[in-house]
Amino acid sequence: MIEFSHVYKTYPGPVHALKNVDLSIGKGEFVFLTGPSGAGKSTLFRMISAFDLVTSGHLLVSGYDLTRMSASEIPYFRRRIGVVFQDFRLLKNLTVAENVALPLRVRGDTESQIRRRVAEMLEQVGLPHKQDQFPEILSGGEQQRTAIARALIHQPGVLIADEPTGNLDPELSEEIMDLLERVCAQGTTVFVATHDHEMVKRRNKRAVRIRAGILEGDCR
Ligand SMILES: Nc1ncnc2c1ncn2[C@@H]1O[C@H](COP(=O)(O)OP(=O)(O)OP(=O)(O)O)[C@@H](O)[C@H]1O
Ligand SMILES: [Mg+2]
Repeated sequence: MIEFSHVYKTYPGPVHALKNVDLSIGKGEFVFLTGPSGAGKSTLFRMISAFDLVTSGHLLVSGYDLTRMSASEIPYFRRRIGVVFQDFRLLKNLTVAENVALPLRVRGDTESQIRRRVAEMLEQVGLPHKQDQFPEILSGGEQQRTAIARALIHQPGVLIADEPTGNLDPELSEEIMDLLERVCAQGTTVFVATHDHEMVKRRNKRAVRIRAGILEGDCR
């Protein structure tokens, strides 16, 4: 569950990146986020993932009040969510398999649990043959799929994905969207930012639109 009420985010400048955002996404819902470049999509996701704080208003995610959370609670909160960053943020000194395994290591899973689950996840994103390679030598789409595997490996209650198919060809994009729909069907709340309007139309899901920091459309 994600609940924004009267949320504002202002960066120094000042840049009013989010203005009075009210948005409610139920548990297990699948929602697209669209809007022009600079509209505030990544900002909205930075708020949900607690990578940055709202300036005012209230934000609840998975039962956590992010406007009142203490710094010591943040790591526990992060274990409940999965994030695919627009710029991937893979660790370049770790292999694909080690990057994907990170959320399970943080949680303290055993070596054999990790090995099994990583293999399963790499299979689902079509990357088993790349498991021992380092991110730097991967294609953009392979890095993106590694990031998606890492975001899903711990079966988070909430997945936010910032343009998860931005670097993929049409066929792979469809495969990844199928994967996200399956994850959603298993109970994960999925929130996906995209510039791909054709994909939004085809998938026939709820779509929220943001423009200049203001939520202006919500189609179910
Ligand atoms: N740390 C920051 N400091 C100042 N301004 C920022 C900061 N981060 C984002 N902004 C500004 O906030 C606005 C929203 O940016 P954001 O990255 O959320 O857009 P976006 O919708 O994700 O765009 P894109 O589709 O290009 O990824 C932009 O005007 C951006 O310049
Ligand atoms: Mg963005």
